Amino acid sequence: MCGIVGYIGQQDSKEVLLTGLEKLEYRGYDSAGIALLNQDGVNLFKVKGRIAALKEEVDQDVHATMGIGHTRWATHGEPSVDNAHPHQSTSGRFTLVHNGVIENYQDLKREYLQDVTFKSETDTEVVVQLIEKFYQTNQDTLASFRQTMELLKGSYAIAMIDNEDSDTLYVSKNKSPLLVGLGNDFNVVASDAMATLKVTDQYLEIHDKEIVIVNRESVTIQKLDGTVLERSPYTAQIDASDIEKGTYPHFMLKEIDEQPIVMRKIIKEYQNDNNELKLDENIRTAMKAADRIYIIAAGTSYHAGLVGKEFIEKLAKIPVEVHVASEFSYNMPLLSEKPLFIFISQSGETADSRAVLVSIKEMGHPALTITNVPGSTLSREADYTLHLYAGPEIAVASTKAYTAQIAVLAILAVDTARAKGLELDFDPMQELAIVANAMDVLTAQKEEIEQLATDYLATSRNAFFIGRSADYNVALEGSLKLKEISYIQAEGFAGGELKHGTIALIEKGTPVIALATQENVNYSIRGNVQEVVARGANAMIVSMKGLEQDDDAFVLPKVHELLTPLASVVPLQLLAYYAALHRGCDVDKPRNLAKSVTVE
Ligand code: F6R
Repeated sequence: MCGIVGYIGQQDSKEVLLTGLEKLEYRGYDSAGIALLNQDGVNLFKVKGRIAALKEEVDQDVHATMGIGHTRWATHGEPSVDNAHPHQSTSGRFTLVHNGVIENYQDLKREYLQDVTFKSETDTEVVVQLIEKFYQTNQDTLASFRQTMELLKGSYAIAMIDNEDSDTLYVSKNKSPLLVGLGNDFNVVASDAMATLKVTDQYLEIHDKEIVIVNRESVTIQKLDGTVLERSPYTAQIDASDIEKGTYPHFMLKEIDEQPIVMRKIIKEYQNDNNELKLDENIRTAMKAADRIYIIAAGTSYHAGLVGKEFIEKLAKIPVEVHVASEFSYNMPLLSEKPLFIFISQSGETADSRAVLVSIKEMGHPALTITNVPGSTLSREADYTLHLYAGPEIAVASTKAYTAQIAVLAILAVDTARAKGLELDFDPMQELAIVANAMDVLTAQKEEIEQLATDYLATSRNAFFIGRSADYNVALEGSLKLKEISYIQAEGFAGGELKHGTIALIEKGTPVIALATQENVNYSIRGNVQEVVARGANAMIVSMKGLEQDDDAFVLPKVHELLTPLASVVPLQLLAYYAALHRGCDVDKPRNLAKSVTVE
């Protein structure tokens, strides 16, 4: 969701800005722009649409050693050139890009900016106009920038140029991610290190409500009151090749294929030389102390949480509630006496989850974040972090992060069970190794799955995914994958629930994808399939070796019953991928979606 790149140095900034914005495309956006400052002043280029269009719009003859760029995911005002960033103050002196949502922008407009004519419908323009308004009185850019930041409520990451000062980028953030990257004779600003990895791997974290003055040769971090802070840089742990597609046509396909590698990486990282589970002792203590666990997450991560609930309850014998983050804050259940909160988030930046984290920390409860990005906001603000080791996930549709989340939750559940002295007949590392081999087999069956996508989903407007017990959780994820990238209206249902209403939607040819990987419900889910077939559905069954029947469309290799979601989700991911591909959809960047959802 929205991305920022800034550059100040000796070279022409266009290349760094445009390449950086391309690297941020995965976050989701609908318009883009850059501002370049040179001896002629600020040169502004903005488009509705993709970076490819922006590249054509930018005048290649404009050279500037300083600039800011932005990808916008519309919140206030439709996607348009007027609403695209960068935004400028009325005089044109200040130019600014912003991620996030300024919650009090209407109040600020009313109180300070009654006489200003606005050029856009955005909350962002209020920020840049305010800076100019304060400048008219104090004639000091830094003071005006600071005064404005003090007034803002909500989430923001901001980079600003003053066209009278070609040696400073003014930067600040609150709740939205932003980093400063350090180079020789240059510095950069980015929402995500991936944007600028090509030019530096040295980064400085910016904390909420800090102001950063970025010059060519130096970076100064200040508190809002002006106190200067010292901070050491860190080296970004991302390999530049991890964020390239290589020979793959899409990141999603690459990331589906990477799942067996990720399983093996998790096995390696969570095991010591004596083959014992390797987890932070503090996490072990926190898990043991909890009388109830509250898992908070959104979308695919929420679906992983549903699978994790089963692990923790069955293996570690601790009751678990799984909550959609955006609902939890407004409808908080009665909490137990010793709750432990687990936040599951690929990006570690999801605003809905963060809102819950902030409120439960205020209540004094402990929190563990399970994330793919250890330096992310949710990771920094929780007491403990478990890393997914999945490598950057670029496709908007989450695949390898989902399976990594489930694998880490299985390890956590077993570790807790052992710490509690419970006897288990389940070796997670051995079973995950079997899963990794099964994933190798599954990802090699692309042609077969592509054919199923053609047979079942080529022309359908809607589709149903059904399952019982653990399969129901995967049905939810399978349907989310299909709808988000192919735009086929898809729903996941508990097999037994269809007859209580939804079966009314089944008509001739309606695709129904049924999962049958659980022995105790194998016959009942097949009964549900018969019910829909009797009403004309075009049903396919995905079963597991040992439970299969002759007409099953696809049979998964056998894995431990608890871990079946790790195998059954793979053909569903591929089914969604091929359905989207055949419909000509933009697989990696589906419409209206953002990878990192940093607004509530
Ligand atoms: C779907 C998808 C989203 C995310 C959700 C939470 O494929 O990726 O549903 O799972 O936006 O994001 P994270 O996990 O980053 O908190």
